[in-house]
Amino acid sequence: MALLPFTWVRGLTHLLHPLRVLVARGWLRESDVDAALALLHPALRLNRVFARVMQRQWVAEDMLELTLRANGNWRGAKPGQHLQLYLERDGVRLSRSYSLTALQLGGRLQVAIKHQPGGRVSPYLLEHLAVGDVLELGAVYGELSWPEAQQGVLLLAAGSGITPLLGLLRAALARGFSAPVTLLHYVREQGQRAFVDELQALQAQHSNLQVRWSLTASEAEAGELMGRFTAEHLAAVPQLIQRSVLTCGPAGFVSQVQQWWQTAGLPGALQAEAFTPPALNRDVSLRQVMVNFARSHQQNRVDNQRSLLDQAEDFGMKPAHGCRQGICASCTCTLLSGTVRDVRTGALFSEPGQPIRLCISAPHSDVEIDL
Ligand code: FES
Repeated sequence: MALLPFTWVRGLTHLLHPLRVLVARGWLRESDVDAALALLHPALRLNRVFARVMQRQWVAEDMLELTLRANGNWRGAKPGQHLQLYLERDGVRLSRSYSLTALQLGGRLQVAIKHQPGGRVSPYLLEHLAVGDVLELGAVYGELSWPEAQQGVLLLAAGSGITPLLGLLRAALARGFSAPVTLLHYVREQGQRAFVDELQALQAQHSNLQVRWSLTASEAEAGELMGRFTAEHLAAVPQLIQRSVLTCGPAGFVSQVQQWWQTAGLPGALQAEAFTPPALNRDVSLRQVMVNFARSHQQNRVDNQRSLLDQAEDFGMKPAHGCRQGICASCTCTLLSGTVRDVRTGALFSEPGQPIRLCISAPHSDVEIDL
């Protein structure tokens, strides 16, 4: 039971400055201060970012948009970026990344969460997270951005890849972007078309916007396309040659778009983001090496093919992580000795003290990691 209303939490942030000074000088422990502040309101913390759930809205059969309001420690984000959410279940701290679909003043933000069957986080968030609950927010990351030139834009999304692109589209239209924009969203079936009402309303309001869906696992209705991405789906896109292209979705979809773009030779830029791990570079022979996670006193023989994040989880460890693709940096640890290999490119790193990302680093020799 909170002693303070949430509306006071953001305003109190700057009043906590003297406590931050005492923590910085080592006279107080941040965890003790946070424990006391949490009694006043669970979203009140010295430095960590917590947010209250303000609204839940289903935007597809399997996708929920959450409106959150962050405490005063929130430093903002950019449209198209992703955000780490943390929750605790049965004493275990879990985290996942979700895309920001809107950013507003006063610490308000929206994220969309797609149901992942068998997942540990999304089913809980969709079914049990309620208005008024409080969540911790973590790192913000992601490089997608709306093209600066006032030229046409083509948005190609598959599945939940719609979410960062929608964040960018909403912001661009609100700024008055007037060049042609085509959004093509690939989903398995009708019910997975997300934000349909809003996209249709935007289309009616902005004559430069065209939205289409392609169904990959069911019959299309009038006006919809059928099947997976193909260049033929772009035949009706006006002035295609002048468009910048942004694409987001599973790695296979994004790589198909990249291949098309290279073949088509469009002069504009392509920005691509895949939200499943990229294919591993397995150009080394399989062998056993010794991994030592020094601080956890975990030492074992492992193979040299899989990432250190996977190997640590096999030991029952729970390293911080987010994207599992080498993007968000939340799994960064220090290499103490040995050589690791970037599983995407095959590049080797062996300088002691070097920061490495566990999710994309495999042991190449016996290694010691500060974890
Ligand atoms: S989990 Fe995001 S960089 Fe490793």
